[in-house]
Amino acid sequence: MNQATLVLVKPDGLKKSLTGNILTRLSETKLEIVATKMARVSRELAADHYRHLKDKPFFDDVVKYLQGEFHDRRKVMAMVYWGKDAINKVRDIAGATNPEEADPVSIRGSFGRITTKGVYENVIHASSDEKDAEREIKLWFKPAEIIVDLYPTKDTIIKDLKTKQWV
Ligand code: CDP
Ligand code: MG
Repeated sequence: MNQATLVLVKPDGLKKSLTGNILTRLSETKLEIVATKMARVSRELAADHYRHLKDKPFFDDVVKYLQGEFHDRRKVMAMVYWGKDAINKVRDIAGATNPEEADPVSIRGSFGRITTKGVYENVIHASSDEKDAEREIKLWFKPAEIIVDLYPTKDTIIKDLKTKQWV
């Protein structure tokens, strides 16, 4: 079954210059990239992305981590991968959440670390099931930024919206 999944190269992945490596590893899946962008991460966006962790003692730190506060990289690379069994294929190559327990040849096993404060800096985010994938993709991307029609949309006319244009 065709699925979509959200992948983020987290700020540690950017700082360690792993983007090319990660894209190469993920290309083993033969999935299609149907959306991609560099995104600044507001506190609100990071907190919403990790809202399932809001009662955990490390919540504040993972929000700061995703915002790039620990890596001097205030951005992530966001992508949507699409194709047969996309969610599990990407999760397999990403590896387990804890980089010390992750398969050593997975992305997280190869490049992740646990900080002295106990945060798992694991280089990459990958959606864990279809419900999460839909929620996360809708959080990070607008319909027009994705080149396939993944979820139902509606047309709205927005008046007096201030937007930047090229001079
Ligand atoms: O990212 P994944 O879906 O594998 O795991 P999660 O349980 O949804 O947690 C999200 C992120 O929080 C992880 O990728 C880690 O960066 C961080 N985390 C952590 O630092 N310490 C934990 N005990 C669990 C998660
Ligand atoms: Mg998760």
